[in-house]
Amino acid sequence: MIRRLLLAGAALGLFATPALAADPLAATGRWSANTDGSAPTPPMGWNSWNAFNSDVDEEKVLASAQALLDTGLVKLGYRYVNIDDGWWLKRRQPDGRMLIRTDHFPSAATGRDPSFRPFTDRLHAMGLKAGIYSDIGRNSCGQIYTPDFKNQPEGTVAEREIGLYGHIDQDIALYFRDWNFDFIKVDACGIRGLPADAPRVRSGLYRALPPLVDMQSLGGSDVAGIRGLYQQVGGAIRRYAGDRPYVFSLCLWGAGDVRAWGKDVGNSSRTSDDIQPIWTRMLTNFDTVTHRALYAHPGSWNDPDMLFVGTGDFDTAHPVEARSHFSLWAMLNAPLIIGYDLRKLTPELLTIFGNADLVALNQDAAGNQAVLAYDSDDVQIFAKTLADGSKGVAIFNRTAAPTKAVLTADHLKLLPSADVRLHDLWSKADSRFRGETTLTLAPHETRVFRASGTRRLANGLYLSEQTGRVNPAVDGVATPQADPTIHHSPTPWGGTRGTGDHPQYGGWGGAEADRAPYGKLMRVAGREYDTGIGILANSRLEVRNQGFTRFSAQVGVNDSGQKAGKITFEIWGDGQLLGRSPAMAFGTPAAPMQADVRGVAIVELVARASDGAIQPATWAEAALSR
Ligand code: GLA
Repeated sequence: MIRRLLLAGAALGLFATPALAADPLAATGRWSANTDGSAPTPPMGWNSWNAFNSDVDEEKVLASAQALLDTGLVKLGYRYVNIDDGWWLKRRQPDGRMLIRTDHFPSAATGRDPSFRPFTDRLHAMGLKAGIYSDIGRNSCGQIYTPDFKNQPEGTVAEREIGLYGHIDQDIALYFRDWNFDFIKVDACGIRGLPADAPRVRSGLYRALPPLVDMQSLGGSDVAGIRGLYQQVGGAIRRYAGDRPYVFSLCLWGAGDVRAWGKDVGNSSRTSDDIQPIWTRMLTNFDTVTHRALYAHPGSWNDPDMLFVGTGDFDTAHPVEARSHFSLWAMLNAPLIIGYDLRKLTPELLTIFGNADLVALNQDAAGNQAVLAYDSDDVQIFAKTLADGSKGVAIFNRTAAPTKAVLTADHLKLLPSADVRLHDLWSKADSRFRGETTLTLAPHETRVFRASGTRRLANGLYLSEQTGRVNPAVDGVATPQADPTIHHSPTPWGGTRGTGDHPQYGGWGGAEADRAPYGKLMRVAGREYDTGIGILANSRLEVRNQGFTRFSAQVGVNDSGQKAGKITFEIWGDGQLLGRSPAMAFGTPAAPMQADVRGVAIVELVARASDGAIQPATWAEAALSR
């Protein structure tokens, strides 16, 4: 009887107490961010959506592919040629095979079973890679949200279910094993927009799917459910791509707390809703990535959406804005996916996409997304440490007025007493300064330089100079919250009707480089620090150690916290405890910690809240050195 009760209790989950769950702060000695697939640097290429919406066809795609070759852009790395929404005709019944719109893709008309294989063969023969598009639900964004969408899937309700839901294995086998694609973007409208009361469900157009994603409610989204579906897709790609390199691009627009887990599942993850060719919308998309340098690594990048260089506020009549958009995407290690009809490419636009110095910043092997060195609503300065130890720096004027900005050696973690050499990556002019220099910026201008000087930390790197090797495996955010600091622009579909754009992109309180969580000042017991990692307690950072011998930091509770609550700091090396601080209280000066990490591959930095209250932990001046 007791045994029966126990079994019944287990089935109901009655005995699954937290005490039995694995301690998420326990050191693992492993790097847990995604490294599967092939994205050691951000993916580069072209996508049909911004140029053609769903009115895509083979001729248009191949013309842009040819332009990548003819202009030499392919040699710079623009290799992926991706079809977005609009390629599908229907899901054949009863076998469920996806059919292609062969009147738009004539080479796919290969008999009873249309195939993209001739198309991907052609791209591969051109030295390019091929990308396809799907949705994690049963239906696509175009079906659900766009009334006048060209090339809607046809047929019965079941035939129009062209998304992956219920067909993950079948579709991924077709796309990767049979059709030989190298890249897939997986959108999520199908798990967002089809509740039973949606007009298109009630009218019988589509089957209801209880939404897992609620853009306006992180609490109301089924984070585990969404993640589980994307993980299934990742597993299927691994199976069916075989040994071929692939890219898995998540398109969940910053919803479903994807900030926290997208980096563990895919090669890139969208951080916001769709970019538009409008200055203020570019700002919105941009702002969704600027505080998340620690969430991007070789193999898993933040994706603020595709480039709109060439169109609207970024067309040839607006070269300053076009260059800014491109510079910012390059600095933040965004995928550089051109969204322009390359048949119309002008020499002016080619100088932007083809700026090899900017592309080199984006593709730098160290994979460090630029860190905010100075922040305001008007001017921002971003610094990025490159594989050779030199720096990329961007000074961005967000406003419509000209401005002056002071760039200091400190922004670059270079010594103010020595010369800093600057090479302007747009004008190619060289200059030098000591201490600081004043730069003039046109309205909306971004000036970008490669900088070198005498490094403040001569024999090592601060952790904030190697964000690509620091992974907030557990970032202490217990309750996901939307970031209120992201620029709020009108949506093109709503204009100023209703009450406007509300905070919706998760990430508030996440781990930050050179700042405390919530973008606050890094300060412990009144002492300010301009470098370190800020992260809420009950967190675990994984740090890849590239041959350094010593880890050091000053640890304490950040002054932006509360009087109650202590933090114990631990340093682990490949799963072994190397050091533990006393429980640090609010207002106590930071304590020095260091550890010998010779031969250690993964250093883990654990901050434990010791009396329950959650505090911002500061790993000030955290560095690996020789
Ligand atoms: C969503 C995506 C876009 C694009 C469209 C296609 O809106 O975010 O990037 O793929 O769907 O319908």
